[in-house]
Amino acid sequence: MKKFEEQLIKEVEALKSLQPGERKGNVGWESPSNIAFVKYWGKYPRQIPANASLSLTLSKAVTRTRAAYNYDPKREKPVVQFEFEGQRKGDFTARIEKYLSGLDEFMPWIRHTDFSISSENTFPHSSGIASSASAMSAMALCLCDIEQEIYRQEYPGDFFRRASFLARLGSGSASRSLYGKMAEWGITASCKDSSDEFAIPVPEIHDAFMDMKDSILIIESGKKRVSSSLGHDLMRSNPYSKLRFEAAEENMQQLCNVMQNGDLGGFIDIMENEALSLHAMMMTSSPGYVLMQPNSLEAIHRIREFRSRTGLAIGFTLDAGANVHVIYPGEQAESIRKFIDQELKELCEHGAIIHDEMGSGPKRI
Ligand code: PMV
Repeated sequence: MKKFEEQLIKEVEALKSLQPGERKGNVGWESPSNIAFVKYWGKYPRQIPANASLSLTLSKAVTRTRAAYNYDPKREKPVVQFEFEGQRKGDFTARIEKYLSGLDEFMPWIRHTDFSISSENTFPHSSGIASSASAMSAMALCLCDIEQEIYRQEYPGDFFRRASFLARLGSGSASRSLYGKMAEWGITASCKDSSDEFAIPVPEIHDAFMDMKDSILIIESGKKRVSSSLGHDLMRSNPYSKLRFEAAEENMQQLCNVMQNGDLGGFIDIMENEALSLHAMMMTSSPGYVLMQPNSLEAIHRIREFRSRTGLAIGFTLDAGANVHVIYPGEQAESIRKFIDQELKELCEHGAIIHDEMGSGPKRI
């Protein structure tokens, strides 16, 4: 068993000796999405990542989740009612029920509790922004607050570390949404406190990266063509996966260096290599998937051409889809925004672009 998991299970024993206090109440959290610079792609059972990853926490793309709870020790199975943006959603409800039953050993009170949960995103569901990261982190935070209320006791350890652990069990990338600025998840030689069990805030970030912008070009809206669980699974049989995991570790080490010395050019090289490697993995899996669209490629060419023409620190990254994240420092935003409007907007579906930036992490609502 993993070290932190062992500690959490010991804490549950201590909790069992406490008398529950509140039986009913309401909690709420707003939690951001994130975009990875070094990608998590491939995992082992119980959401243990095959390689470490590092991401930028977004500011505007957030999920707001409110949960009303009703604790009754006589009940033996949680009942969940879930509304997303005002509508009952059966598929989401089933996913949350499955997630909650998987937390039994860490939060045994869940099985005695009814939940009425409502959730909304500030970004369109079809925009390709990782909604599982913001949704699962907001959910984990609500559960941590409910537990504190039921037992009338503040969690004695690191609240966000535990929430990151619990969010990870829902969606790996959600573990990184618990912290502002940038977060790192997964054991890597480049970061001494790193863990596969939870994410941590990136300890040293040079001023050059402190005001990062992310303009998301919506090349193709609509549901993801390949779910991330299928993508992670395909890495088990991908003939290049071992090399990919080694390359990711190498990129983590280099990225941590540039994060400290402020080398924006070095940063862009690593970030773009990571995005293209993720897509290369999808193309070389069996079956293979091409997730980019012609306009994704055209945007990439135009970004690179603009960079060599102007020398500005603009680069791109991609999630497992066609949309292109344009990444640049705030101090160069004026000229870069002009370029985005003049040369990239026409490549987007209905001209849709979401302008986001580095955010400060989750908030209670
Ligand atoms: O958290 P998951 O299982 O949805 O996987 C996320 C995978 C990527 O978004 C493609 C990369 C990452 O590290 O966020």
